[in-house]
Amino acid sequence: MIADSYDKVLFKKALDNLSNAYCPYSEFPVSAVLVGESGKEYTGVNIENAAYPAGICAERTAMSKAVSEGERNFERIVIATANGEGWPCGICRQFMYEFSPDMKVVAGKNIDNLKAYSLRELLPEGFRLEV
Ligand code: THU
Repeated sequence: MIADSYDKVLFKKALDNLSNAYCPYSEFPVSAVLVGESGKEYTGVNIENAAYPAGICAERTAMSKAVSEGERNFERIVIATANGEGWPCGICRQFMYEFSPDMKVVAGKNIDNLKAYSLRELLPEGFRLEV
């Protein structure tokens, strides 16, 4: 897949929202902007916790916000970190695959070096109930 000009717009929005990441333990802010098939955009950041496993990644924050507002199908997600390229962890890949295996996933080390894959490429043979 090819990153396009809308991905750049979304990457900028993700960067603008990075300061809302709550990551006092890792000090690794992550920010995502998710786009539903409705066209609506949902932001998400990582939210850590003193009980470490209770923390949540930016991608799942964004998708949880969206699903809880009624959106079930997703077009793309763009991810930014404070330093360098950050791709979704395995749990986030599985979480997103539940809803939209063919959505576009975009990340990169800066706005001029974005890369894009389909989620299916990032999670081959993923597990999903066909409902
Ligand atoms: N993190 C994300 O938010 N998204 C990812 O896909 C990778 C990891 C967060 C989790 C944790 O708060 C921090 O980055 C360091 O692992």
